[in-house]
Amino acid sequence: MALVGDERLVDSQAEDAVEAATELSLRPHFLNEYIGQDKIKRELTVYIEAAKKRQEALDHVLLFGPPGLGKTTLAFVIANELQVHLRTTSGPAIEKSGDLLSVLSELQPGDVLFIDEIHRLPRAVEETLYSAMEDFYVDIIVGQGPTAHPVHFPLPPFTLIGATTRAGLLSAPLRDRFGILAPLDFYQTAALQEIVTRSAAVLQTAITTDAAHEIALRSRGTPRVANRLLKRVRDFAEVAHQTSIDQTLADQALTQLSVDSEGLDQVDRRLLVMMIELYQGGPVGLKTIAANIGEDVETVETMYEPFLLQQGFLKRTSRGRMVTTKAFQHLHRPIPEDFK
Ligand SMILES: Nc1ncnc2c1ncn2[C@@H]1O[C@H](COP(=O)(O)OP(=O)(O)OP(=O)(O)O)[C@@H](O)[C@H]1O
Ligand SMILES: [Mg+2]
Repeated sequence: MALVGDERLVDSQAEDAVEAATELSLRPHFLNEYIGQDKIKRELTVYIEAAKKRQEALDHVLLFGPPGLGKTTLAFVIANELQVHLRTTSGPAIEKSGDLLSVLSELQPGDVLFIDEIHRLPRAVEETLYSAMEDFYVDIIVGQGPTAHPVHFPLPPFTLIGATTRAGLLSAPLRDRFGILAPLDFYQTAALQEIVTRSAAVLQTAITTDAAHEIALRSRGTPRVANRLLKRVRDFAEVAHQTSIDQTLADQALTQLSVDSEGLDQVDRRLLVMMIELYQGGPVGLKTIAANIGEDVETVETMYEPFLLQQGFLKRTSRGRMVTTKAFQHLHRPIPEDFK
């Protein structure tokens, strides 16, 4: 993905083939290469080791958090650490209980089934999943009309890893069936810097510590964004005939890419400016925000809002979203006198 004009820095999944291929090459394979998220890693290390010792399937794991924080990566890492096969599918891909059964019936004892976007499983499939998760069997009605009859399919013990950017949409019965809940958080700058440094080594690109730090600071706390920015900055270095990425180059390149000193991209800024200019900073409802910046509500809620909230540019109130004084200051707008 080239980053030009109004293009977004943030999105879910890698959207084109080239991007997907590099994303794959930059993906850590084992826990010791998976940077940050220390609490989750510590816990998983214990559970994985215990499951291996007992020769049992690991408890089901729910990974949740904003796009690009490493949910898919972590699912692969867990399967590698367990030394089992991993099958992947996604909520929207499983339309009927029969589809689920065909995926489940391919599992060997102890294998991992990864269901991405698990909040988008159809209701009937979700209900079939309950007994699969809890007692490792599926009851399915086979045939139609008078010949319809239930068939009982026992399954091998397996680990379900579900991933979602929208944990709030999961039904309570499904959420309760996960023994291990892993909420992924935005990364600290130090962790992102380590990720940038590791990725640069994988891409065989020389980078100074300062430059890695600069990219880390401007990556919205998100490894996927950090890797994207690194690749774009590397392009700038190449065009400038620079063999190594230094801080000056990183800063210039990122500024040209419209990523500001706080890591906000054009859409982030457009959102905040719109709220300030049209609504004196708010409160504004989510639907109104989305309509005004030409995005859908889900995109605003999962991709833009979490980072703006976490960084204190935006806050939630009972009457809607409001910008903060930090947002006014960052965007160099005067704070209205009656602004609270
Ligand atoms: N902890 C980490 N250490 C190193 N690199 C990471 C880490 N987490 C993620 N990455 C990098 O960021 C990229 C994006 O991660 P990943 O695809 O796992 O995110 P995701 O949470 O599944 O996103 P989405 O919600 O869009 O599916 C990966 O290709 C990987 O290179
Ligand atoms: Mg993913």
